[in-house]
Amino acid sequence: MVELPPPPPGPARAALRLRQALVRALDAPLPAHAAVWASTLGFMRLHALATICELGVADALGGRRRATAAELAVELDLDAGHLHRILRALATEGWVRLDRRGRFSLTRKGRALRTGEMDGWVRYLALESTRRAWAAMPEAVRSGEPAFPLVHGRSTWDHFARHPQEEQLFARTMRALTHLDLPGIVRAWDWPGRGTVCDVAGGTGTVLAGVLRARPDARGVLVEAPGVLPEARRHLEAAGVAERVELREGSIFDGIDARADVYLLKDVLHDWDDARCARILDVVAAAMPRGASLVLVEQLQEPHVPEPVVSWVDVHMLAVCDGGRQRSLAELHELLRGAGLEPGRTAPTAAATLVEGVRR
Ligand SMILES: C[S@@+](CC[C@H](N)C(=O)[O-])C[C@H]1O[C@@H](n2cnc3c(N)ncnc32)[C@H](O)[C@@H]1O
Repeated sequence: MVELPPPPPGPARAALRLRQALVRALDAPLPAHAAVWASTLGFMRLHALATICELGVADALGGRRRATAAELAVELDLDAGHLHRILRALATEGWVRLDRRGRFSLTRKGRALRTGEMDGWVRYLALESTRRAWAAMPEAVRSGEPAFPLVHGRSTWDHFARHPQEEQLFARTMRALTHLDLPGIVRAWDWPGRGTVCDVAGGTGTVLAGVLRARPDARGVLVEAPGVLPEARRHLEAAGVAERVELREGSIFDGIDARADVYLLKDVLHDWDDARCARILDVVAAAMPRGASLVLVEQLQEPHVPEPVVSWVDVHMLAVCDGGRQRSLAELHELLRGAGLEPGRTAPTAAATLVEGVRR
Protein backbone atom coordinates (compact mmCIF):
# COMPACT_ATOMS: atom_id res chain seq x y z
CA MET A 1 0.00 0.00 0.00
CA VAL A 2 1.21 3.52 -0.80
CA GLU A 3 2.53 5.48 2.21
CA LEU A 4 0.61 8.75 2.23
CA PRO A 5 1.88 11.79 4.08
CA PRO A 6 -0.73 12.86 6.64
CA PRO A 7 -2.76 15.84 5.49
CA PRO A 8 -2.60 18.52 8.21
CA PRO A 9 -5.91 18.43 10.16
CA GLY A 10 -7.01 22.02 9.58
CA PRO A 11 -6.52 22.23 5.80
CA ALA A 12 -7.88 18.68 5.21
CA ARG A 13 -11.12 19.51 7.01
CA ALA A 14 -11.32 22.90 5.31
CA ALA A 15 -10.89 21.20 1.91
CA LEU A 16 -13.78 18.84 2.64
CA ARG A 17 -16.00 21.71 3.77
CA LEU A 18 -15.10 23.63 0.61
CA ARG A 19 -15.97 20.59 -1.52
CA GLN A 20 -19.40 20.30 0.13
CA ALA A 21 -19.99 24.04 -0.34
CA LEU A 22 -19.08 23.74 -4.04
CA VAL A 23 -21.42 20.78 -4.49
CA ARG A 24 -24.23 22.82 -2.90
CA ALA A 25 -23.35 25.81 -5.10
CA LEU A 26 -23.34 23.63 -8.25
CA ASP A 27 -26.75 22.22 -7.27
CA ALA A 28 -28.22 25.71 -6.77
CA PRO A 29 -28.93 26.54 -10.47
CA LEU A 30 -30.22 23.01 -11.18
CA PRO A 31 -33.95 22.31 -11.19
CA ALA A 32 -34.64 20.55 -7.87
CA HIS A 33 -35.61 17.28 -9.59
CA ALA A 34 -32.25 17.26 -11.41
CA ALA A 35 -30.43 17.69 -8.07
CA VAL A 36 -32.36 14.67 -6.74
CA TRP A 37 -31.40 12.67 -9.85
CA ALA A 38 -27.73 13.62 -9.47
CA SER A 39 -27.72 12.55 -5.81
CA THR A 40 -29.45 9.23 -6.37
CA LEU A 41 -26.72 8.32 -8.87
CA GLY A 42 -24.71 7.45 -5.77
CA PHE A 43 -26.40 4.03 -5.62
CA MET A 44 -25.58 3.25 -9.26
CA ARG A 45 -22.09 4.67 -8.96
CA LEU A 46 -21.33 2.51 -5.90
CA HIS A 47 -22.33 -0.67 -7.73
CA ALA A 48 -20.45 0.26 -10.88
CA LEU A 49 -17.32 0.92 -8.80
CA ALA A 50 -17.80 -2.30 -6.81
CA THR A 51 -18.13 -4.24 -10.08
CA ILE A 52 -14.80 -3.06 -11.46
CA CYS A 53 -13.10 -3.64 -8.09
CA GLU A 54 -14.54 -7.12 -7.60
CA LEU A 55 -13.80 -8.29 -11.14
CA GLY A 56 -10.20 -7.10 -11.06
CA VAL A 57 -10.77 -4.46 -13.75
CA ALA A 58 -9.21 -1.64 -11.71
CA ASP A 59 -6.11 -3.79 -11.07
CA ALA A 60 -5.87 -4.84 -14.72
CA LEU A 61 -6.20 -1.24 -15.91
CA GLY A 62 -3.72 -0.14 -13.27
CA GLY A 63 -1.12 -2.51 -14.73
CA ARG A 64 -1.13 -0.94 -18.21
CA ARG A 65 -1.48 2.50 -19.77
CA ARG A 66 -4.79 1.92 -21.55
CA ALA A 67 -6.99 -0.92 -22.78
CA THR A 68 -10.29 -1.44 -24.57
CA ALA A 69 -13.10 -3.27 -22.81
CA ALA A 70 -12.59 -6.10 -25.33
CA GLU A 71 -8.94 -6.50 -24.32
CA LEU A 72 -9.84 -6.43 -20.61
CA ALA A 73 -12.69 -8.89 -21.19
CA VAL A 74 -10.31 -11.44 -22.78
CA GLU A 75 -7.84 -11.07 -19.90
CA LEU A 76 -10.47 -11.32 -17.16
CA ASP A 77 -13.04 -13.56 -18.88
CA LEU A 78 -15.83 -10.96 -18.86
CA ASP A 79 -18.49 -9.73 -21.24
CA ALA A 80 -16.91 -6.94 -23.31
CA GLY A 81 -20.18 -5.13 -24.10
CA HIS A 82 -21.33 -4.92 -20.49
CA LEU A 83 -17.89 -3.88 -19.33
CA HIS A 84 -17.63 -1.08 -21.92
CA ARG A 85 -20.98 0.38 -20.80
CA ILE A 86 -20.02 0.35 -17.11
CA LEU A 87 -16.61 1.90 -17.75
CA ARG A 88 -18.14 4.53 -20.08
CA ALA A 89 -20.57 5.56 -17.32
CA LEU A 90 -17.66 5.80 -14.85
CA ALA A 91 -15.80 7.96 -17.37
CA THR A 92 -18.53 10.61 -16.99
CA GLU A 93 -17.34 11.12 -13.41
CA GLY A 94 -13.62 10.93 -14.00
CA TRP A 95 -12.88 7.45 -12.57
CA VAL A 96 -11.49 6.37 -15.95
CA ARG A 97 -10.73 8.19 -19.22
CA LEU A 98 -12.20 6.98 -22.52
CA ASP A 99 -10.45 7.96 -25.74
CA ARG A 100 -11.90 8.07 -29.27
CA ARG A 101 -10.50 4.63 -30.03
CA GLY A 102 -12.48 3.08 -27.18
CA ARG A 103 -9.47 2.69 -24.85
CA PHE A 104 -9.84 3.22 -21.12
CA SER A 105 -7.20 4.37 -18.64
CA LEU A 106 -7.35 4.90 -14.89
CA THR A 107 -7.37 8.49 -13.60
CA ARG A 108 -5.70 9.64 -10.37
CA LYS A 109 -8.79 8.93 -8.28
CA GLY A 110 -9.49 5.74 -10.24
CA ARG A 111 -6.12 4.37 -9.13
CA ALA A 112 -7.41 4.38 -5.53
CA LEU A 113 -9.76 1.53 -6.59
CA ARG A 114 -6.92 -0.97 -6.93
CA THR A 115 -6.58 -3.85 -4.46
CA GLY A 116 -5.36 -2.79 -1.03
CA GLU A 117 -6.48 0.81 -1.46
CA MET A 118 -10.15 1.88 -1.24
CA ASP A 119 -11.47 -1.21 -3.07
CA GLY A 120 -12.33 -2.91 0.24
CA TRP A 121 -14.54 -0.03 1.37
CA VAL A 122 -16.35 0.02 -1.97
CA ARG A 123 -16.89 -3.74 -1.94
CA TYR A 124 -17.92 -3.79 1.73
CA LEU A 125 -20.58 -1.11 1.09
CA ALA A 126 -21.90 -3.06 -1.88
CA LEU A 127 -22.23 -6.35 0.09
CA GLU A 128 -25.75 -7.65 0.15
CA SER A 129 -25.73 -7.64 3.96
CA THR A 130 -24.71 -3.96 4.07
CA ARG A 131 -27.19 -2.94 1.36
CA ARG A 132 -30.06 -4.75 3.06
CA ALA A 133 -29.29 -2.95 6.33
CA TRP A 134 -29.31 0.43 4.55
CA ALA A 135 -32.55 -0.51 2.77
CA ALA A 136 -34.16 -1.05 6.18
CA MET A 137 -33.54 2.59 7.13
CA PRO A 138 -37.25 3.63 6.96
CA GLU A 139 -38.13 0.81 9.39
CA ALA A 140 -35.20 1.77 11.64
CA VAL A 141 -36.28 5.40 11.76
CA ARG A 142 -39.90 4.40 12.43
CA SER A 143 -39.00 2.02 15.24
CA GLY A 144 -35.85 3.60 16.69
CA GLU A 145 -34.12 0.22 16.31
CA PRO A 146 -30.74 -0.22 14.58
CA ALA A 147 -31.21 -1.39 10.98
CA PHE A 148 -28.74 -4.31 10.69
CA PRO A 149 -30.26 -6.51 13.42
CA LEU A 150 -33.76 -5.69 12.11
CA VAL A 151 -33.04 -7.43 8.80
CA HIS A 152 -30.37 -9.95 9.78
CA GLY A 153 -31.57 -10.91 13.25
CA ARG A 154 -28.10 -10.41 14.75
CA SER A 155 -25.39 -7.80 15.10
CA THR A 156 -22.84 -7.11 12.37
CA TRP A 157 -20.16 -8.86 14.44
CA ASP A 158 -22.23 -12.01 14.95
CA HIS A 159 -23.04 -11.93 11.24
CA PHE A 160 -19.32 -11.66 10.42
CA ALA A 161 -18.53 -14.60 12.72
CA ARG A 162 -20.86 -16.68 10.50
CA HIS A 163 -19.55 -15.17 7.23
CA PRO A 164 -15.75 -15.28 7.43
CA GLN A 165 -15.22 -13.87 3.92
CA GLU A 166 -17.20 -10.76 4.83
CA GLU A 167 -15.36 -10.53 8.16
CA GLN A 168 -12.01 -10.63 6.37
CA LEU A 169 -13.15 -8.11 3.76
CA PHE A 170 -14.23 -5.76 6.55
CA ALA A 171 -10.94 -6.25 8.43
CA ARG A 172 -8.99 -5.40 5.25
CA THR A 173 -11.26 -2.39 4.69
CA MET A 174 -10.63 -1.08 8.19
CA ARG A 175 -6.91 -1.59 7.70
CA ALA A 176 -6.94 0.52 4.52
CA LEU A 177 -9.05 3.27 6.15
CA THR A 178 -6.97 3.28 9.34
CA HIS A 179 -3.79 3.34 7.26
CA LEU A 180 -4.85 6.69 5.76
CA ASP A 181 -4.83 8.36 9.18
CA LEU A 182 -1.98 6.29 10.64
CA PRO A 183 0.89 8.80 10.32
CA GLY A 184 -1.30 11.40 12.03
CA ILE A 185 -2.25 9.01 14.86
CA VAL A 186 1.37 7.99 15.43
CA ARG A 187 2.54 11.61 15.49
CA ALA A 188 -0.34 13.00 17.52
CA TRP A 189 0.47 11.08 20.71
CA ASP A 190 3.38 10.63 23.07
CA TRP A 191 3.43 6.80 22.83
CA PRO A 192 5.61 5.11 25.48
CA GLY A 193 9.20 4.48 24.40
CA ARG A 194 9.69 1.25 26.38
CA GLY A 195 6.27 0.32 27.70
CA THR A 196 3.35 -1.70 26.36
CA VAL A 197 0.48 -0.54 24.17
CA CYS A 198 -2.68 -2.68 24.18
CA ASP A 199 -4.92 -2.19 21.16
CA VAL A 200 -8.38 -3.39 22.14
CA ALA A 201 -10.51 -4.57 19.18
CA GLY A 202 -7.58 -3.33 17.12
CA GLY A 203 -8.54 -5.06 13.87
CA THR A 204 -5.50 -6.32 11.97
CA GLY A 205 -3.17 -4.32 14.22
CA THR A 206 -2.71 -1.38 11.86
CA VAL A 207 -2.27 1.24 14.59
CA LEU A 208 -0.21 -1.08 16.76
CA ALA A 209 2.18 -1.77 13.87
CA GLY A 210 2.53 1.97 13.19
CA VAL A 211 3.21 2.79 16.85
CA LEU A 212 5.69 -0.08 17.34
CA ARG A 213 7.61 0.86 14.19
CA ALA A 214 8.00 4.34 15.66
CA ARG A 215 8.95 2.94 19.11
CA PRO A 216 11.46 0.11 18.54
CA ASP A 217 11.70 -0.71 22.27
CA ALA A 218 7.96 -0.82 22.98
CA ARG A 219 5.78 -3.92 23.02
CA GLY A 220 2.15 -4.50 22.04
CA VAL A 221 -0.89 -6.60 22.83
CA LEU A 222 -3.70 -6.96 20.30
CA VAL A 223 -7.10 -8.12 21.56
CA GLU A 224 -9.49 -9.20 18.80
CA ALA A 225 -12.17 -11.62 17.68
CA PRO A 226 -10.76 -15.02 16.58
CA GLY A 227 -11.66 -14.59 12.90
CA VAL A 228 -9.53 -11.45 12.59
CA LEU A 229 -6.36 -12.70 14.32
CA PRO A 230 -4.82 -14.71 11.42
CA GLU A 231 -4.96 -11.65 9.14
CA ALA A 232 -3.57 -9.56 12.03
CA ARG A 233 -0.63 -11.96 12.39
CA ARG A 234 0.16 -11.66 8.66
CA HIS A 235 -0.04 -7.88 8.82
CA LEU A 236 2.18 -7.59 11.91
CA GLU A 237 4.72 -9.98 10.38
CA ALA A 238 4.78 -7.94 7.16
CA ALA A 239 5.30 -4.80 9.25
CA GLY A 240 8.25 -6.46 11.01
CA VAL A 241 6.83 -6.09 14.53
CA ALA A 242 5.17 -9.48 15.10
CA GLU A 243 7.78 -10.68 17.60
CA ARG A 244 6.92 -7.71 19.88
CA VAL A 245 3.14 -8.30 19.81
CA GLU A 246 1.04 -10.75 21.79
CA LEU A 247 -2.14 -11.69 20.00
CA ARG A 248 -5.03 -12.32 22.40
CA GLU A 249 -8.35 -13.75 21.40
CA GLY A 250 -10.85 -11.97 23.61
CA SER A 251 -14.13 -10.12 23.87
CA ILE A 252 -14.49 -6.48 24.76
CA PHE A 253 -17.48 -7.47 26.87
CA ASP A 254 -15.95 -10.29 28.90
CA GLY A 255 -12.69 -8.98 30.32
CA ILE A 256 -9.22 -8.18 29.02
CA ASP A 257 -6.19 -9.88 30.45
CA ALA A 258 -3.46 -7.40 29.47
CA ARG A 259 -1.29 -5.11 31.57
CA ALA A 260 -0.18 -2.08 29.57
CA ASP A 261 0.82 1.57 29.87
CA VAL A 262 -1.53 2.75 27.14
CA TYR A 263 -4.76 1.13 25.98
CA LEU A 264 -6.30 2.04 22.67
CA LEU A 265 -9.87 1.88 21.40
CA LYS A 266 -10.01 3.16 17.84
CA ASP A 267 -13.38 3.34 16.12
CA VAL A 268 -14.80 0.86 18.61
CA LEU A 269 -17.13 2.98 20.78
CA HIS A 270 -18.85 4.33 17.66
CA ASP A 271 -20.05 0.77 16.97
CA TRP A 272 -22.12 0.61 20.14
CA ASP A 273 -24.90 2.27 22.14
CA ASP A 274 -24.14 4.04 25.43
CA ALA A 275 -24.92 1.02 27.62
CA ARG A 276 -22.52 -1.23 25.73
CA CYS A 277 -19.88 1.51 25.56
CA ALA A 278 -20.14 1.71 29.36
CA ARG A 279 -19.58 -2.06 29.56
CA ILE A 280 -16.57 -1.93 27.19
CA LEU A 281 -15.03 0.94 29.16
CA ASP A 282 -15.61 -0.87 32.47
CA VAL A 283 -13.84 -3.93 31.03
CA VAL A 284 -10.86 -1.87 29.84
CA ALA A 285 -10.70 0.21 33.03
CA ALA A 286 -10.65 -3.00 35.10
CA ALA A 287 -7.53 -4.14 33.22
CA MET A 288 -5.73 -0.78 33.52
CA PRO A 289 -3.12 -0.32 36.24
CA ARG A 290 -3.17 3.01 38.11
CA GLY A 291 -1.62 5.79 36.01
CA ALA A 292 -2.32 4.02 32.71
CA SER A 293 -4.05 5.88 29.88
CA LEU A 294 -6.84 4.84 27.60
CA VAL A 295 -6.74 6.62 24.24
CA LEU A 296 -10.00 6.72 22.28
CA VAL A 297 -9.69 7.49 18.58
CA GLU A 298 -13.03 8.70 17.27
CA GLN A 299 -14.37 11.13 14.68
CA LEU A 300 -16.21 13.76 16.70
CA GLN A 301 -19.76 14.83 15.88
CA GLU A 302 -21.33 17.79 17.67
CA PRO A 303 -25.14 17.50 17.81
CA HIS A 304 -25.97 20.53 15.64
CA VAL A 305 -23.01 20.72 13.27
CA PRO A 306 -23.25 18.97 9.88
CA GLU A 307 -19.83 17.42 9.18
CA PRO A 308 -18.99 16.52 5.54
CA VAL A 309 -17.71 13.01 6.33
CA VAL A 310 -18.59 12.28 9.94
CA SER A 311 -22.32 12.99 9.66
CA TRP A 312 -22.48 10.29 6.97
CA VAL A 313 -20.32 7.87 8.97
CA ASP A 314 -22.79 8.46 11.79
CA VAL A 315 -25.73 7.41 9.60
CA HIS A 316 -23.73 4.39 8.42
CA MET A 317 -23.37 3.42 12.11
CA LEU A 318 -27.14 3.77 12.39
CA ALA A 319 -27.50 1.35 9.48
CA VAL A 320 -24.93 -1.31 10.33
CA CYS A 321 -24.26 -1.19 14.06
CA ASP A 322 -26.15 -2.07 17.18
CA GLY A 323 -26.92 1.45 18.40
CA GLY A 324 -23.57 2.80 17.16
CA ARG A 325 -23.09 6.53 16.61
CA GLN A 326 -20.52 9.28 16.39
CA ARG A 327 -20.24 11.30 19.60
CA SER A 328 -19.12 14.73 20.72
CA LEU A 329 -16.12 15.29 22.97
CA ALA A 330 -18.46 16.00 25.90
CA GLU A 331 -20.27 12.69 25.32
CA LEU A 332 -16.99 10.75 25.20
CA HIS A 333 -15.81 12.46 28.39
CA GLU A 334 -19.05 11.50 30.11
CA LEU A 335 -18.56 7.86 29.08
CA LEU A 336 -14.96 7.94 30.36
CA ARG A 337 -16.03 9.42 33.70
CA GLY A 338 -18.73 6.74 34.00
CA ALA A 339 -15.96 4.11 33.95
CA GLY A 340 -13.96 5.98 36.60
CA LEU A 341 -11.45 7.40 34.09
CA GLU A 342 -10.41 11.02 34.26
CA PRO A 343 -10.57 12.89 30.93
CA GLY A 344 -7.08 14.06 29.95
CA ARG A 345 -5.47 15.36 26.76
CA THR A 346 -7.02 15.49 23.30
CA ALA A 347 -5.17 15.63 19.96
CA PRO A 348 -6.65 15.97 16.46
CA THR A 349 -5.45 14.11 13.37
CA ALA A 350 -6.65 14.74 9.80
CA ALA A 351 -9.68 12.51 10.26
CA ALA A 352 -10.18 11.89 13.97
CA THR A 353 -9.43 13.01 17.50
CA LEU A 354 -7.46 11.19 20.18
CA VAL A 355 -9.22 11.50 23.55
CA GLU A 356 -7.50 10.38 26.74
CA GLY A 357 -8.94 8.86 29.88
CA VAL A 358 -6.55 8.30 32.83
CA ARG A 359 -6.95 5.69 35.55
CA ARG A 360 -6.07 7.43 38.85
C1 LIG B 1 -14.69 -0.63 13.41
S1 LIG B 1 -13.58 -1.93 13.69
C2 LIG B 1 -12.15 -1.06 14.32
C3 LIG B 1 -10.89 -1.84 14.15
C4 LIG B 1 -9.61 -1.08 14.54
N1 LIG B 1 -9.67 -0.57 15.90
C5 LIG B 1 -9.34 0.04 13.56
O1 LIG B 1 -9.74 1.16 13.82
O2 LIG B 1 -8.78 -0.25 12.51
C6 LIG B 1 -14.23 -2.67 15.17
C7 LIG B 1 -13.48 -3.92 15.58
O3 LIG B 1 -14.12 -4.46 16.75
C8 LIG B 1 -13.93 -5.86 16.71
N2 LIG B 1 -14.92 -6.46 17.62
C9 LIG B 1 -16.27 -6.44 17.54
N3 LIG B 1 -16.82 -7.07 18.56
C10 LIG B 1 -15.80 -7.50 19.35
C11 LIG B 1 -15.73 -8.23 20.57
N4 LIG B 1 -16.85 -8.62 21.20
N5 LIG B 1 -14.50 -8.46 21.12
C12 LIG B 1 -13.36 -8.08 20.48
N6 LIG B 1 -13.38 -7.38 19.29
C13 LIG B 1 -14.57 -7.11 18.75
C14 LIG B 1 -14.16 -6.21 15.27
O4 LIG B 1 -13.61 -7.46 14.91
C15 LIG B 1 -13.48 -5.04 14.56
O5 LIG B 1 -12.16 -5.34 14.20
